[in-house]
Amino acid sequence: MELLGRYWWWPVVLVLVHFGMNGCFGCWEQERIALLELKASIVNYTDEYHFPHWDSADKESDCCEWEKVKCDITTSRVIKLALNSMIYWSGESGGGWYFNASLYLPFEELQYLDLSSNSIPGWIPNEGFERFFTLGKLEVLHLGYNSFNNSILQSFSGTIASLKELHLNSNSLNGSIHIQDFKAFNNLEELYLGGNHINDFVKTEDSNSLSKLQVLDLSHNNFNAQILESVVAFPSLKILNIGYNNLEGSYTTKELGALNNLEQLYLDGSSIDNSFLHKVGVMNSLEVLSVRNCNLNGSLPAQGWCELRKLQEIDLSYNNFEGILPSCMANLTSLRVLDLSNNHFTGNIVHSPLPSLTSLEHLSLSNNDFLIPATMSTFSNLSKLKDLLGMLPTWLGNMSGLNELVMAKNQLEGPIPVEWCKIVKLSFLDLSENNLSGSIPSCFNSSYIRSVYLNKNWLSGPIPCAFKNNSNLVTLNLRDNFLIGNIPDWIGNLSSLSILLLRENHLEGRIPNQLCLLQNLNLLDLSYNKFSGTIPHCLSNITLVASSEKPIFGGFWAGLSSYQIRMPYLKTKSTNMKDWNPTGDFMIDVSETDEAEFTTKNRIDSYHGDILNYMVGIDLSCNKLVGEIPPQLGMMSTIRAMNLSHNSLTGPIPTTFSNLKLMESLDLSYNNLSGKIPPELTEITYLEVFSVAHNNLSGTTPERKNQFGTFDESSYEGNPLLCGPPLHDCTKIGPPSTMLVDHDGEDGGSFIDMAVFYISFVVVYITVLLGLVAVLYINPYWRRAWFNFIEVCVDNCYCFVVVHYRKLFNFRLA
Ligand SMILES: *[C@@H]1O[C@H](CO)[C@@H](O)[C@H](O)[C@H]1NC(C)=O
Ligand SMILES: *[C@@H]1O[C@H](CO)[C@@H](O)[C@H](O)[C@H]1NC(C)=O
Ligand SMILES: *[C@@H]1O[C@H](CO)[C@@H](O)[C@H](O)[C@H]1NC(C)=O
Ligand SMILES: *[C@@H]1O[C@H](CO)[C@@H](O)[C@H](O)[C@H]1NC(C)=O
Ligand SMILES: *[C@@H]1O[C@H](CO)[C@@H](O)[C@H](O)[C@H]1NC(C)=O
Ligand SMILES: *[C@@H]1O[C@H](CO)[C@@H](O)[C@H](O)[C@H]1NC(C)=O
Repeated sequence: MELLGRYWWWPVVLVLVHFGMNGCFGCWEQERIALLELKASIVNYTDEYHFPHWDSADKESDCCEWEKVKCDITTSRVIKLALNSMIYWSGESGGGWYFNASLYLPFEELQYLDLSSNSIPGWIPNEGFERFFTLGKLEVLHLGYNSFNNSILQSFSGTIASLKELHLNSNSLNGSIHIQDFKAFNNLEELYLGGNHINDFVKTEDSNSLSKLQVLDLSHNNFNAQILESVVAFPSLKILNIGYNNLEGSYTTKELGALNNLEQLYLDGSSIDNSFLHKVGVMNSLEVLSVRNCNLNGSLPAQGWCELRKLQEIDLSYNNFEGILPSCMANLTSLRVLDLSNNHFTGNIVHSPLPSLTSLEHLSLSNNDFLIPATMSTFSNLSKLKDLLGMLPTWLGNMSGLNELVMAKNQLEGPIPVEWCKIVKLSFLDLSENNLSGSIPSCFNSSYIRSVYLNKNWLSGPIPCAFKNNSNLVTLNLRDNFLIGNIPDWIGNLSSLSILLLRENHLEGRIPNQLCLLQNLNLLDLSYNKFSGTIPHCLSNITLVASSEKPIFGGFWAGLSSYQIRMPYLKTKSTNMKDWNPTGDFMIDVSETDEAEFTTKNRIDSYHGDILNYMVGIDLSCNKLVGEIPPQLGMMSTIRAMNLSHNSLTGPIPTTFSNLKLMESLDLSYNNLSGKIPPELTEITYLEVFSVAHNNLSGTTPERKNQFGTFDESSYEGNPLLCGPPLHDCTKIGPPSTMLVDHDGEDGGSFIDMAVFYISFVVVYITVLLGLVAVLYINPYWRRAWFNFIEVCVDNCYCFVVVHYRKLFNFRLA
């Protein structure tokens, strides 16, 4: 008893000493040192952006708190290292950072290691690569988007029992590989080999390698149709992606029948035989079937695929299907996701099997010829035909589970039916590029709705108040309509709004201060309207926070060109398998589903998915805004694009703009700005597009340093009092070179009889105009050419011309 009393504190001391050494309050010392060694090995191969911010100087700093590191909460051992995307190297053979397995050996409890996208050329021999795999807890290894070649397969020796997921996608594997190569991984469940140059996956008799494999990604390789025979070797396989290969040739029902345990099959981007959908009925466990962009044509078969009673998701988009939807589709009652977009389906949806698919959550019918009756003769009289043509189907109102509805580009007409107000779970609505008219019913007020795309329609009236109190709305795209009136004050209630696009309408009045309440706004496009008054200085309150602060490799714009258009709206089963980009230069997770068009750098880019998180900008161009540019706008430090061109703004360019360090595109052209261009603007080092042309600026142009060394005259032209390179030299004596601005007052016209001149001018003008109208009316080719011309024409009536001519001819030529 006494002993216990005297030594009661011993266990406490032991515990304190233990945690003091090994970091109850921090990470283990040996792991901290190992992390710093890792960092030291990277230092020569990357730049400060991609470098992990690990504090080497501060001994007290807890490495469990460091970015890219995750520790177990009870043991404080490092369990996860996400060292992806730290090194960028554009060369074929990879960067210089080799895989040095010794560096990872101290992390004995490591479960997850991500080294993807580091241009790793290979591993260093004799540095413990074998021992690396004895890290007994390692379950997930990401080596994707590097330059490993076939020799990595030889290094997989021994028994690697813990590993469940191996990612080797987008590397330099080539030729044929053997299932035997993976025999060390006897518990592997997921294997990703997409985006290599593999042409055969040789199956060996009697081997039971990869017997637990459930997920196999072989997409973007050089496999041929025989690959299905090898795949049969994996008895547990549930998910298979063999898209983007050379799968020409037809499968027999027997071959497909051998895969009847498969739950998900992706064949996207591979040409497959038209008979496939006939035969696929034997794969009776299928829940997801994706044949996007598979060169399929003709009409959908009236049997076979409809027998897949477990089917929950089917993607038939981007093929050349035509004709009406077969009635057997009505049997696919488990279907939740149906994508028929980008085909040539015809027929009136009202008489289609679609109304029977009552479990649908996602329906995409974009870019088809639906709603044009297959046979005109079905309709007894023309007026009835006209009524049915292209109206939005009211039965959609009965699909109460519908979450996402995409019917863009279908020549739909008429108003949005009130029946749709019953689709209470609708969160994503895209009816863009149709001929919808009228307004949106005010009962259409689902609080679930997050994204609304009604751009390029004929909607009229004021901005619909259906969304009035919706604090969940993220995207509101009403571009290219005929909306009138003001921006309502209730706009300030839309507290989640991130994208507001009102471009090309007939809106007028002041830009309300309530807009400044939208704290989550990323994109604001009010261009091509008739907004007047001054720019509210409170706009600077919008923090324009991009959800991700990190610049992407090579600046924000890099990779846009290679970014693929995808529509993973709902969190579907297929989302994981479909969302990756084989080119590897732009790796993002498409978690968000929105798409927006926004003009920067003189072109319209479509932003999809997560890219919106990086995009922040304001376009107020082509309005009637007056007054000075509020200096407060210089506080919007995260903005990347600002366009205030084609207004009547006066006063100076605020010096505060030099704070806009992330700005990539700044257009202040065609205003009445005066004073000097602040020389501090040269501090904006990301600037790629800059224009102050056609103002009344004076003084010297900014020093030609940083990005400013790349801007030519077009950035400055039309400012008679402005001088300095790249314009004319300021020291030149005499008036600036004759400008195009001032022609009257010269003596040129006097020897022409002005009356004769005017009459002939009017006659010629009318003749030319009539001729032009006639040509444009008759000939679609010239019409298109004319619009192209209009698009590039930049002059003072620019805004007017662009908008009105487009509207006049309903700018949607096939
Ligand atoms: C690999 O890492 C170990 C441990 O840090 C180091 O001793 C060794 O020199 C490295 N090897 C090479 C080739 O850099
Ligand atoms: C595979 O790539 C290696 C280089 O990594 C090359 O030497 C070899 O010829 C390639 N084999 C095939 C079949 O393309
Ligand atoms: C489908 O495509 C094939 C090859 O591209 C072509 O030969 C065939 O005529 C097409 N069938 C239809 C119905 O368009
Ligand atoms: C669809 O189901 C109906 C009965 O519900 C059946 O008569 C028909 O044959 C089925 N069609 C197909 C193609 O399976
Ligand atoms: C939505 O509209 C319905 C019918 O007009 C109305 O009863 C309901 O109160 C509205 N809900 C909201 C949140 O405005
Ligand atoms: C700014 O807006 C005008 C009018 O919309 C457009 O012509 C110009 O290209 C835009 N500037 C930039 C840099 O995108």
